[in-house]
Order: sequence, then structure tokens, then C-alpha cells
Amino acid sequence: MKVDVLLGLQWGDEGKGKVVDVLTPSYNLIARFQGGPNAGHTLEFEGIKHVLHTVPSGIFRADAINVIGNGVVIDPIVFAAELDKLTPFNIDLKSRLLISKKAHLILPSHRLLDAASEQSKGSKKIGSTLKGIGPTYMDKTGRNGLRVGDLFSPSFESKYAELREKHIRMLDHYADFSYDLSDLEKEWFQKIDRIKSLTCIESEHYINAALKQNKRILAEGAQGTMLDIDFGTYPFVTSSNTVTAGTCTGLGVPPSAIGKVIGIFKAYCTRVGSGPFPSELDNETGEAMRKEGREFGATTGRPRRCGWLDLVQLKYAIMINGVSELCMMKADVLGIFEDIMICEAYEIDGQIVTEFPYDVNDLHIVPVLTKMEGWKADLTGLTSYSDAPQALKTYVDYLEKQLGVPITMVSVGPDRAQTLLK
Ligand code: GDP
Ligand code: IMO
Ligand code: MG
Repeated sequence: MKVDVLLGLQWGDEGKGKVVDVLTPSYNLIARFQGGPNAGHTLEFEGIKHVLHTVPSGIFRADAINVIGNGVVIDPIVFAAELDKLTPFNIDLKSRLLISKKAHLILPSHRLLDAASEQSKGSKKIGSTLKGIGPTYMDKTGRNGLRVGDLFSPSFESKYAELREKHIRMLDHYADFSYDLSDLEKEWFQKIDRIKSLTCIESEHYINAALKQNKRILAEGAQGTMLDIDFGTYPFVTSSNTVTAGTCTGLGVPPSAIGKVIGIFKAYCTRVGSGPFPSELDNETGEAMRKEGREFGATTGRPRRCGWLDLVQLKYAIMINGVSELCMMKADVLGIFEDIMICEAYEIDGQIVTEFPYDVNDLHIVPVLTKMEGWKADLTGLTSYSDAPQALKTYVDYLEKQLGVPITMVSVGPDRAQTLLK
């Protein structure tokens, strides 16, 4: 058996949570491999809307085991609040939610450092979710971090105190940043007991054993390819590898164990936070998309920037990830437009460019747009792809041809049921 990977191909919020939930009945194990509470994955079913941040999106399906892998960073406070919201669903978390001992902990001071760093950047700020993600991964690669396994160590408190001291010295460098750590810390220490009460394991052994036992495994990505620390629009990115390769380091599975790579994209494009966005529509059309698509962040509530689908960007993401099949989300949202545009290339200083450029942050990019006929229809009640309007089928066929990868799923609404298999 192989590990199938599901990840976002744009700037996050593509609808990964929904698709994981839809696909979970075909899997035994769902594993998050990177990111942390910066993620907000929305699931809707039976009239319930639920947002997950750290917990994998397979948690609502009976029988599936959910693993938080070593590549994830966990904030005990956010995590405990997330678990509280799961209480009404009577899920046996002790057996259904497993946590890697190698996952790193987000300390209260990491959150402060994130806020102080963003404040100091002024207009150059990344637009971070302020969840402490960057500073936590910095401590991980700087070999200073605290891991879930450390919670069980007799020297945990002294390890914590050492890192806290270091952070306070760093915070002292930010002249205009004032803070109060005490309340946050008190809550943090209460909430680490929630993590300790769950099943903390060496998940790389568990997952590789599951592979040997022919269990079906789905790795759930967070964020999106253009937010990847190496391949995204640096420095306007997150601090982990969001791409397929991140599955290997974030779960401890070898590259030879990777099976299908399922790439999730919206029928258009969104971005929340700062940074380049070549096909952005900073106008009424973008506003209409935001309204129709309810494009507001699941974690921070910030309005998402909207734009047309960008094939230069999408082809780049497909290349980096080795995508083998695609899911196109939010097709229903484009139902309001007479014409739909697709960005096919960038015009930069009079030159036509079709490869995603290195210095995208500094270039003046004019998107080269192709016009497609809109379907001008409400798709939200559709139950079969064969009943879809011809204009939608033409859009899908065109994308498959341009991208060279089959689109196997078209999503026409937020609910689990509003999913068309092709
Ligand atoms: P994720 O971070 O990739 O899991 O995506 P988010 O949950 O942050 O954002 C996707 C949003 O779109 C959520 O509010 C979903 O409920 C919603 N959604 C997902 N698929 C569809 C769809 O096909 N149509 C519509 N209208 N909404 C969708
Ligand atoms: P999901 O998993 C969309 C963005 C932030 C910011 C940048 C860095 O729901 O798709 P960070 O807090 O990671 O230091 O922020 O990345 N960002 C996301 N945007 N969806 C997400 O996750 C995101 N996680 C981080 O807005 O621009
Ligand atoms: Mg999201």
C-alpha cells in the first residue's frame, strides 16, 4: 500500500478539509504532516459547519484513525479549544486521534514573537495568522524547540524555562512591543494536560507498520503550494513544506511510499495575507467573488483577496507536487458571471512569460487572460456531473487539456453531498 497525498495547489483555503472528509470512507488513516493552527479546514455535513485547525479532517468519520504527524506544530491552548468543540460528537479521541511525540509545541512566547515580528515589519508584514508558526519552526530548525515527547520528561519545566528566557531576551529587542505573558502561560500549562491525556506515539513507526498491514493512508496538507517555504512566494509564505515532499519529512514515510497526489484548487483563486497575486481582481468583480464565495478566513476571519484562475501558477504547483489527479472546488461560485477569465500567461515588460518567475514580488505582471463562456446557473443542487451545464463541462475539459492532469471531482457547494465525481 502507498500513502496518498491531498494538498492545496494555490494559496491555501482551496477546500482541502471538505475533500478529506469526502474521501475518508475510503481510507483507514488520515494524517496531517505540516502546519499548525494557522490552518482552518472547514467541513459541512448534516447542517453542521465545523472548522478544524490541528485535528485531521477525517475525525468525523467513524473508524478512521487520525494522526497529527511530526511535521505539525501544536498550540496546546488552540488544540484544547478544538477538542472541546468536538465533545458533542462523542468521538473516542483516545483511540481515534494519535499525536506524534516529535511534533513541536507552540509556546505562548512564540505567539508573542510572531506578533512582535509582524508589528516591526510595518507595511512589509507577511500577514501571518499570528499563531506563532514562524517562531516555532525557527526553534525547530534552530534545534531549540520543545516537542510533545518532552511533556513526559522530568526536566520539562526547566527546558521550558530555558526557551522562555531566550524568547524574553529576543522580545526585549522589539522596543515598541509590550506584552503580558502570565495569563497566557497559566492557560498553556493547564492545557498541556489535555495533550498528555491523549495517545502520544512515535507516529513514524505506527504509519510504516500500517503501510505494511495494507492500511489505506491519506496525508492531509495544510496551507497551499504557493505558501511553501521553498517554492512559494517567499518571503510571503508559511514556515513549512506544504508540498508533496513535506509528507515524507512530516510523517516519516519514504518517497517510494507515495501513491496518488490529489491536488485541490478553486475554480478561481484566493489569497489571504500579504504578497504577490498576479491574477488578483482588486475591483468589483473580485468583490462579487468574495461575496458569492464567502471568502473570509476560517482562522482569522480576514477577507480573502480574489482573482481569476492562474494557469501559470497552477502548472507550477502541479509540477512541484507531481499531481496525479485534480479536484476543482467552488465551481458554483462562478455561476454568477456572464464570462469567466483564465490567466494563461504573464506579460512582463512586454514579454510573454509562462513559467512562474523567481522575482514575482518585484515584477509588474499583467495577466494574459482567455475568455470562457460562463454557465450562469445555480449548481448547488446538482448530484451528477452528467447533468452539469455544457459551459462548465467545456471549462473543465479546457483545464484538463491545459494542465495535462484529469479533474476527477468538481465541488458545487460546501456540503459533503455537493460533490460531483467525474
Ligand atoms: P481549506 O483550508 O483548504 O480546508 O479550505 P477552507 O475551509 O479554509 O475554505 C474553503 C471554504 O469554502 C470553506 O468555507 C468551505 O466550506 C467552502 N467550500 C468548500 N467547497 C466549496 C464549494 O464547492 N462551493 C462553495 N460555495 N463553498 C465551498
Ligand atoms: P489552510 O490550511 C490560507 C498565510 C497567512 C500569511 C502566511 C504566513 O486553511 O489552507 P503563518 O501564520 O503561517 O505564519 O502565515 O500564510 N496562511 C494561510 N492562508 N490558508 C491557510 O491555511 C494559511 N495558513 C497560513 O495568511 O499570509
Ligand atoms: Mg483554510
